[in-house]
Formats: sequence, structure tokens, C-alpha cells
Amino acid sequence: TSQDQSELKRAVAQAAVQEIRSKLRRDTVLGVGSGSTVNLFIEALAPLRDDFAGAVASSTETERRLRAAGIEVFDLNQAGTLSVYVDGADEIDHDFAMIKGGGAALTREKIVAACAKEFICIADGSKLVHQLGGFPLPIEVIPMARSYVAREMVKLGFSPVYRQGVVTDNGNQIIDLYDQLIDNARDLETRINQIAGVVTNGLFAHRGADLLLLGTAEGVQRMSP
Ligand code: A5P
Repeated sequence: TSQDQSELKRAVAQAAVQEIRSKLRRDTVLGVGSGSTVNLFIEALAPLRDDFAGAVASSTETERRLRAAGIEVFDLNQAGTLSVYVDGADEIDHDFAMIKGGGAALTREKIVAACAKEFICIADGSKLVHQLGGFPLPIEVIPMARSYVAREMVKLGFSPVYRQGVVTDNGNQIIDLYDQLIDNARDLETRINQIAGVVTNGLFAHRGADLLLLGTAEGVQRMSP
């Protein structure tokens, strides 16, 4: 049930705080992702706010929630390299490649993840899959390129659907690719990003997670790839 799922999310959020707790220094700036699991992580992190400098947010929603929790928000250009990035995923495979962007924050998430030494993925057990692609793969596009990118994706065998009514934090639009299991996530990540008008896609394969905290009925599993 969704009640159980949110308990699993709460458990991994707390496990992530335990994981990073001993690494926090006065000057530590964390990267913080987006989504319902991360929202619980922000709640669990709030009591430690005086033990570290603050955080860089991967979305305006996360920025708002960090501030509300009393955690200082930094501009990424001022923060430099981040020690840890904590974020959820829509799907994660056994190599720790992910599909992200269900909440449309994929581009900023990818930028903040790129700046972090370690990526800790926090997810409930339903997110771990053998092959990515069951969850629709999002692509952020410059608005004028939307139809062109969609036609190119049809050529690659995908079913692209325009996510109506959604504007990203960067003022762009989202196309979701449905019903195609992904054989080579790294290769597809690169190929989609080559298309003119694509800002980025939701495959996090070149920069996947380094550690997975997975919430299961038997407890939180701490997994490395
Ligand atoms: C946001 O754009 C996504 O990448 C999130 O990481 C993803 O949707 C996970 O969300 P939940 O924690 O709500 O499952």
C-alpha cells in the first residue's frame, strides 16, 4: 500500500542521514535532489542543520523545503565540488544506472550530481529493476524543438508523449518515452543528448549512483554496485 511505501521512504531517508552524519564538517555543502523520498530526507536532516554549512538544491521545490527546514541554500557556482549528493530515482538497475525526472527536475539533478564526489540513491524497494524502461524516460527539450525531438525518437522506436502543462524550472518542456525497455543505458543516454534541442534526458548511466539505500519490508539494504 502507499502507507507502507511511505514508511519505506521514511526509513531510507533516516538511513541516509545516518550514512552522512559522521562526514559532516562545518564547511560541508550537500547536494539535495527532489521528490517525496528526498522531502523526508530534508525533514530528517533538519536537526543537524548546525553541523554543516548548507545545501545546493536540485529544484525550486527542494530549495523552498530546505529553507523551511532552516538549512542554508547555496548557489552551485559558489559551492564548487560537493561531497555528497542525495537523491531518489524513478528506477534503478543493478549497475546503479537510473531513470530520473518523474518530477521534471532531471536537468538540475544531473548538474548537481555531476558536481558531487558521491551519489547516494535513496529509494523504496519498488524502484529496483532488472532492466530500465518500465518507467517512462523523460527528456527535457527547448520548447521550439519539441516536435523535432519527438520525430527523432519515433525513428529510434520509441513512443514519445508530450507532458502537457509541465514547464521545467528552466522554462523548458518534457517529452516522456513509453513502452521500451532499455538495452544499453549509457549508449542511449549519449545518443539522445546528441539531438538538437535536447537539454538532457533522464538516464543517469554515465554518472550513476555510488551507494543505494533500498527500503524493503526486511529493513534498509545498503548496496554497492
Ligand atoms: C525527480 O525529478 C525525480 O528524479 C525523483 O528523483 C524521482 O521522481 C523520485 O521521486 P520519489 O522519491 O517521489 O519516488
